[in-house]
Amino acid sequence: MWLVSSLRAALCLLLAVLASHRQPAAAVVTLSTSSRWIVDPAGHRVKLACVNWPSHLESVVTEGLGRQPVGAISGMIVSMGFNCVRLTYPIALVTNASLSVLTVRQSLLANGLAETVGGVEAVVNALGEKNVMVILDNHVSTPGWCCSNDDGNGFFGDRDFDPNVWVDGLGSMATIFADVPNVVGMSLRNELRGPRQNPQDWYTYMQRGAEAVHAASPRALVIMGGLSYDYDLSFLAARQVGVSFAAENKLVFEVHWYSFSDARAWETESANEVCGRAARDFARRGGFLLARGFPLFLSEFGADSRGGDPKDNRFFPCAAAVAAEHDVDWAYWALQGSYALRQGVAGMDEVYGVLDWSWSKPRNETVLPRIQALQRPLQGPGYGEALPYTVLFHPLTGLCAVRRAAAVTTTLELGPCNETDAWAYAPPSSTLVLRDAAAAGLPCLRAEGPGQPARLGIRDCGDPMSTWRLATDSGMHVAVDAALGLGGGEDGGGGGGMLCLDVGTDGRSIVTNPCACQRGDGTCDPEGQWFKLVTSTRRVVRRPPTLA
Ligand SMILES: *[C@@H]1O[C@H](CO)[C@@H](O)[C@H](O)[C@H]1NC(C)=O
Ligand SMILES: *[C@@H]1O[C@H](CO)[C@@H](O)[C@H](O)[C@H]1NC(C)=O
Ligand SMILES: *[C@@H]1O[C@H](CO)[C@@H](O)[C@H](O)[C@H]1NC(C)=O
Repeated sequence: MWLVSSLRAALCLLLAVLASHRQPAAAVVTLSTSSRWIVDPAGHRVKLACVNWPSHLESVVTEGLGRQPVGAISGMIVSMGFNCVRLTYPIALVTNASLSVLTVRQSLLANGLAETVGGVEAVVNALGEKNVMVILDNHVSTPGWCCSNDDGNGFFGDRDFDPNVWVDGLGSMATIFADVPNVVGMSLRNELRGPRQNPQDWYTYMQRGAEAVHAASPRALVIMGGLSYDYDLSFLAARQVGVSFAAENKLVFEVHWYSFSDARAWETESANEVCGRAARDFARRGGFLLARGFPLFLSEFGADSRGGDPKDNRFFPCAAAVAAEHDVDWAYWALQGSYALRQGVAGMDEVYGVLDWSWSKPRNETVLPRIQALQRPLQGPGYGEALPYTVLFHPLTGLCAVRRAAAVTTTLELGPCNETDAWAYAPPSSTLVLRDAAAAGLPCLRAEGPGQPARLGIRDCGDPMSTWRLATDSGMHVAVDAALGLGGGEDGGGGGGMLCLDVGTDGRSIVTNPCACQRGDGTCDPEGQWFKLVTSTRRVVRRPPTLA
């Protein structure tokens, strides 16, 4: 007992020393919530576009620091467009005095960053110097790879998960980082799970954890994850969280989503059906909180960056479409290209990583834009510059439909989403009209036939070839009934007479083709034809016309 408390005292002293040597970092970022939005003190929306960066594994080091300097890694985070890091840590970092003191001492001796609270502080400060926000995520109790049902870290009362130790640990961590300017939030616990999990204990302990964090760090957002590996917040529909600081507007909920949540389905069933179902399920298991006035942080989602995993290839565009539709805050899994040590393997590769094995460059330049497409806010306080309009988002590429030329009759191509036009569309079936093109009347989009470019014009708006509906279970096939429009037989075959927006063989132009994978085919990939019609209120920036 005496030993433990003296070690604790030593730890506190060390932390105080480290804290007093903290370098001046960026301006203090204090965030709060305004209904479902996260906002700055001026009330403007701050969209969290984070990447997960782990410090919770066996070696208790922030991953990557053995491969690249912290400044180089934080520089890459910024250049890839992320504004925030969800930095994971084991609670033992602050509750196991022997672990903390020994490793801090070792790291001081080694004169490097590899190490625990001091090291985490150094990483946070390096991110602060680049104006990157940090959310501290308690990932596990004992250092190690997460997660399984029986790893002793799953739920309150499990072998290594004493709720009292955990509440103390959260309080210590919040205290240490309370005045670190760029630490904007604390995620209470990652992926609760296992046979002990139940909503009753969830309320009891998550509310206690939240109070401990808020008391120690009133500035911080307090982020609560759900049950079943952060997959399920549906129980909140029946009972709200009760915390003393509700009026401070600091509560945020977090949810996770991977292809392996539903792996068999993504592999074997029709991607249109699975995506439609998964999108409805997202609303049920957490999305409903947005309408209840809480931000929802999709704090883990990701995919194999090599493009060779069929279930991830179907899942990711679906998840990206849902994330864009709700314009949620998010954190991609993951930054790390490799681990110092994971599950006993030194130098293990991470195929979900945005960085390559050596942490020196993006792993795959072609998949990065899919993630980057979600970084920009589409709506929210401070972004209400235009009346709500529709954007044609192509989640497979992370691009949007933009006009190719400024002529009266013109075609579309995939281009940057920040250079899109304002479309008017009224689901479930209407014209797709260029709302702001007043000089040329109101041009509407028409299908001209299989393999032909979809064309903008002012003729025949509202006839079958310019009446678009959102077809298939995915709701992402933007289709006309060509059997009506082209007069019977000429339907391109196999599409049930429907023509869908598609990307041409040049990989860029927007054409119509028979709608793919309509008949519940599990071997067929419709993702190239998926266009998600999302709402934006951002100012429209007209794109300089290019030649057709
Ligand atoms: C604290 O950490 C040490 C070193 O890793 C470990 O041996 C010990 O079991 C831990 N104590 C507790 C109570 O978890
Ligand atoms: C990058 O992603 C694309 C598309 O998924 C894939 O075709 C390509 O093989 C990937 N490249 C590498 C180096 O993983
Ligand atoms: C749109 O974003 C790209 C970078 O993705 C940038 O190069 C371009 O200038 C932006 N366009 C506008 C109109 O801001």
